[in-house]
Amino acid sequence: MNRRTFALGAMSALSATQVIGANDRVRMGLIGSGGRGREDWDTFLKQPEVEPVAVCDVYEPFLQKGLEMAAGKAKPFHDFRKLLEQKDIDAVIVGTPDHWHALMTIAACEAGKDVYCEKPLSLVASEGRKMVAAARKNNRVVQTGSQQRSGSHYAAAVKLIQDGGIGEVHRIQCGFQRNAFPGFKPTEMADGKTTGFDYDMWLGPAPKRAFDPFRCIYNFRWFWDYSGGQMTNWGAHHLDIARWIVGAEAPMVVSGMGGRYGLTDGGETPDVQMVNFQFPKVVVTWTVSEIAEGPKGATIDVYGSKGMMSLTRPGFQVTPEQVGSKGEKKPAMEALKMKGADLNVQHARNFLDCVKSRKRPNADVEEGHRSAVMCHLGNISTRLGRSLKWDAAKEQVVGDAEANTMLSKAYRGPWKLM
Ligand SMILES: NC(=O)c1ccc[n+]([C@@H]2O[C@H](COP(=O)([O-])OP(=O)(O)OC[C@H]3O[C@@H](n4cnc5c(N)ncnc54)[C@H](O)[C@@H]3O)[C@@H](O)[C@H]2O)c1
Repeated sequence: MNRRTFALGAMSALSATQVIGANDRVRMGLIGSGGRGREDWDTFLKQPEVEPVAVCDVYEPFLQKGLEMAAGKAKPFHDFRKLLEQKDIDAVIVGTPDHWHALMTIAACEAGKDVYCEKPLSLVASEGRKMVAAARKNNRVVQTGSQQRSGSHYAAAVKLIQDGGIGEVHRIQCGFQRNAFPGFKPTEMADGKTTGFDYDMWLGPAPKRAFDPFRCIYNFRWFWDYSGGQMTNWGAHHLDIARWIVGAEAPMVVSGMGGRYGLTDGGETPDVQMVNFQFPKVVVTWTVSEIAEGPKGATIDVYGSKGMMSLTRPGFQVTPEQVGSKGEKKPAMEALKMKGADLNVQHARNFLDCVKSRKRPNADVEEGHRSAVMCHLGNISTRLGRSLKWDAAKEQVVGDAEANTMLSKAYRGPWKLM
């Protein structure tokens, strides 16, 4: 395999998707017209078969932005249940914070809609299993919004590694490093006024708390009530790829450490975290730093006996190992490189193609669930300060009742999972 083969492979994958029936319309609704929801909306609206029908948000300025993008073709909704009652919608994007993903995805499946649900698929492990069940019971296409799964260069990288192209692989290092010191600030409603914001409907199943703009738009990520920090934010992307490379459903042992040591913004999730995941003969490590970026940002480094692959969104690069006796070392393989194409487009295309073919998408709900579980276990281990043994078949932590209580979460009424 060389650079040329990869480029050709990527081209044929793209042209194949472009050929598939652009005639059948897919009528779509957007639930959660925030930062990522609008990015997804923009990508989908550029696909020839997509017709925008509805936009739902509980924050008026963002609802208006989503409607404007649809150029008058979409109807506004404040309550996603009303949007799901519309018969003229085939598929919905769920772009809300994580604490809503399960409720909305399951309700959408029950309403007969296909779903593109943003990552991380779930807030807690037990939700994901119910989401898989709802998708299967209603025969729905449910794509997790882990766009790296559809990246042609990620697929080529996984194939190269699994075919032994970089030698034996026993260690994968994934991470996210940036300097966010001394912390984050509210991005909306910083004056504390909630005009045009339905806070109760934003909270939904999450515990009732006094309004604080810092907890809501974008920064919900740093609070356990709604999300899981960088572990479930970037971890959901990178650990998904690591798990794909390893070819396993789940790790056997998870051991995490870290905390919110340096950021003083009131957030709860770790700003420094390291988690080791034990797979058969492979250790996957996840590291986060929000305090200092250092030489690299978002990374997946795969260490093979013949070469080390650095796999990022723009592409991958394999640096050969130097092998042989002292003075006669030579590269164990050829240096390789591959450029990536637009991940969002490839992932949206895969979803739309599956909506038509009824095939399982690249980031099928089951895969999204398993990768989210990996992240949740990382956080549970970090918070409890001990290693966890995972029984993937039972989806239970072995011999740790306290850890098992953290696999699910009580919902604030009247919200409950179907
Ligand atoms: N795939 C990616 O690369 C990627 C990138 C960024 C974010 N995300 C994911 O997207 C999700 C949203 O993140 P974000 O950064 O866009 O957050 P955000 O706060 O900017 O947007 C979330 C939106 O959902 C709305 N919302 C909340 N409750 C709602 C309800 N009950 N009904 C309708 N709308 C509701 C909010 O008002 C807000 O407009 C998260 O799960 C995040 O992990 C994925």
